[in-house]
Amino acid sequence: MKRILTGITPSGYPHLGNYIGAIKPSLDLLDEKCESFLFIADLHAVIKVSDPKKLEELSTGIAMAWLASGLDPEETYFYRQSDIPEITELAWLLSCITEKGLLNRAHAYKAAVDINNESGKKDIDEGVSVGLFSYPLLMASDILTPNATHVPVGKDQQQHLEITRDIAEKFNRKYGDFFKVPEAVIKDQKTVLGTDGRKMSKSYNNIIPLLAGEKELRKSVMKIVTNSQEPGEKKEWRENTLFSIYSSFASEAQIQEMKHMFDNGIGWGDAKQQVFQDLNTLLEPIREKYLELNSNQKYIDDVLKFGAEKVRKKTIPLIKEVKDLVGIKNL
Ligand code: TRP
Repeated sequence: MKRILTGITPSGYPHLGNYIGAIKPSLDLLDEKCESFLFIADLHAVIKVSDPKKLEELSTGIAMAWLASGLDPEETYFYRQSDIPEITELAWLLSCITEKGLLNRAHAYKAAVDINNESGKKDIDEGVSVGLFSYPLLMASDILTPNATHVPVGKDQQQHLEITRDIAEKFNRKYGDFFKVPEAVIKDQKTVLGTDGRKMSKSYNNIIPLLAGEKELRKSVMKIVTNSQEPGEKKEWRENTLFSIYSSFASEAQIQEMKHMFDNGIGWGDAKQQVFQDLNTLLEPIREKYLELNSNQKYIDDVLKFGAEKVRKKTIPLIKEVKDLVGIKNL
């Protein structure tokens, strides 16, 4: 049986890009007959989020975004990474067989080193935490602890999956065939653009929020960059940020209609109003569910606890076997 696993790092407020790129696809996969492990990578977030209150808020935000978008905790394994201590335990054991050079090549670490190099720092590792350096190792452990077979991720995570496969194969060669070597399921969808035309990302401050009220949603749509063309002038929809954002969530029929309106010279204000309306229709049910959840923190806590218990039924026996394999017997 396929065992699908994917995680979201709670390092920012959930936005349309998260929904289109990660949340929705993870739920669409549930139609197939398979087990599904969906988790909040809060331990990964500690690397970036240093304010404790904020971390808690962001973790709950991702939990609510997933639940409000239709995740059924009975049908999935839905949990926080930090509630599964076997993940960090395995991460250590994996670190003992992983060569440092493998992690030297990981892109997040390389990017940090490049910045130090360019700015002429004597120590190229300045400001790089061991957590950032071993990020892919913890990610490998996320995947291997429940022995996942398929991992849907964006292109930016492909390298991490290759590292995971390397580590799993190395363990299997050394200690016997134990881990399933997981496959990356790379989504070839288009990048969701932000209001300024770059990739939607909290670090660019260009997001369209997923859980905001109508007013704030409208405001962020109105912020989308356009040009100085007047109403009545034919608009080019190719390479247009507003059109691109629209086509990331609209139906095929709506997209065709919008192309038509661009050809016919719709004014930017009217086009934005249409984008806002259709987006609002899509997000309204999610927002309503979110508001309901937001006033019931206990329910969310219970769901996550329930998920952790379910997962640990699998991970506790697994870590025992792994320890046994490496020569740490269970007393
Ligand atoms: N690194 C992923 C991201 O930033 C999140 C993540 C952590 C993840 N552990 C994972 C994704 C395991 C898939 C599997 O998007």
